[in-house]
Amino acid sequence: MNVRDSEFVAGMLLENGFELVDSVEKADVVLFNSCSVRQHAEDRLFSNIGDLARLKKKKRDLVIGLMGCTAQKYKDKAIDRSPLLDIVCGPGNEADLAGILKDFMENRCAIVAVDKVNEKRPEIFSIYRENDFKAYVSIGEGCDNYCSYCIVPYVRGKERSRDAKDVIREVEELAARGFKEVTLLGQNVNSYGKAVRPSGRQAVNFVKLLERINKINGIERIRFMTSHPKDVHTELFKAMRDLEKVCEHLHLPLQSGSDRILKLMNRGYTAKRYLKLVEDYRKIVCGGSLTTDIIVGFSSETEADFKKTLSVMRSIEFDSAFTFKYSPRPPAKSAFLKDDVPAAAKEKRLQSIIGLQVASSKKRNESLIGSVVEVLVDGRNKKDEKSLSGRTRTNKAVIFEGDRSLVGSLLNIEIRSATSFALRGRIEAGSSTFLSPTRQAVS
Ligand code: 5AD
Ligand code: SF4
Repeated sequence: MNVRDSEFVAGMLLENGFELVDSVEKADVVLFNSCSVRQHAEDRLFSNIGDLARLKKKKRDLVIGLMGCTAQKYKDKAIDRSPLLDIVCGPGNEADLAGILKDFMENRCAIVAVDKVNEKRPEIFSIYRENDFKAYVSIGEGCDNYCSYCIVPYVRGKERSRDAKDVIREVEELAARGFKEVTLLGQNVNSYGKAVRPSGRQAVNFVKLLERINKINGIERIRFMTSHPKDVHTELFKAMRDLEKVCEHLHLPLQSGSDRILKLMNRGYTAKRYLKLVEDYRKIVCGGSLTTDIIVGFSSETEADFKKTLSVMRSIEFDSAFTFKYSPRPPAKSAFLKDDVPAAAKEKRLQSIIGLQVASSKKRNESLIGSVVEVLVDGRNKKDEKSLSGRTRTNKAVIFEGDRSLVGSLLNIEIRSATSFALRGRIEAGSSTFLSPTRQAVS
């Protein structure tokens, strides 16, 4: 979501006469986009801002701004914490950043813009995208779930769905420019359209939105993030099965396998309901991949609670997992409970789930050896310049040898080997490639 927000702001500034430069030393304006989900990200952010002190001394007119969730969390206190900051802009005010910057450049008086936390972002058309064939598309803002550990509802405000007609128009424009893949973004995509519109009419729900995007010519792949287990139903799995462009990958955060902890987290489901969802998903979406988020060391989590998480993970065997040590985030509710799992125990639990996950990922990836998978080619493999890398529909990384001109195309790759992190293969003989219009124009 932050990647998309940065891109949105960059696009808007480009259209307002600013330019992007390739190093901080060349910049007249430096904007930090920030995440406040965990303390660690916040600490790094303020240390990164502090690193600009030397540059600011040399370049007195340098403008330094903070946007994103940490801006919303700290408001004017961000400037107390880092006096180098000239601008503090919350996620809801980011559409105003061009005006805010011009205002600051004229008046040189610090600006704190954080009042639009619950407002719908205006539909500003901005053409800039970081990738030529894959795009993020926001379908909503904010969250009403108030998971007790999570700061998002406080800094991104109440849930607002973007109008389906605006989402569809954006995807149609992307398709016309040669984009092949869209990832629909929301804190909880499954509750898309839940809020009744001012007209009194119920908005389009998420499955209906998928159906409409599936009809857009030129788009080959549709992804979405993030799903919430309490709002996911078999209707979604059937849509994933029946809509040919919707990719067979579900990111479904489990957070914990202990019902007592899930209740304290205010997650609204039990381990049993989660396991049933996974059973239905795997039955309906054949060969679909499943990834998750897990938090260890939540307030009062005992060894017995943690073992339940391990046990659920063992029985599901996720394709991959993002794993986190619990970090209290006031004003989120759990910050008022005792953070009583010692740091060493959190670390030990984290290492245990990482070890388990590495083994599950390897097993799941190895099961694909010998099969042929469709891959959208992303670019050169960073570790080995001779190879290309891409993603399967199930969002697994694939490395293979091939010419640079294949970037942006869809290929069939025969999988020859696998590790926990990636598949390796070779282009299937006779594999057809589908070059995007922009790529054809370039070649
Ligand atoms: N501490 C640790 N992890 C957290 N997450 C969200 N809030 C916290 C927190 N306070 C994790 C959750 C969420 C992911 C984006 O970040 O697992 O799904
Ligand atoms: Fe945070 Fe829960 Fe909302 Fe996700 S669903 S953004 S974890 S409050």
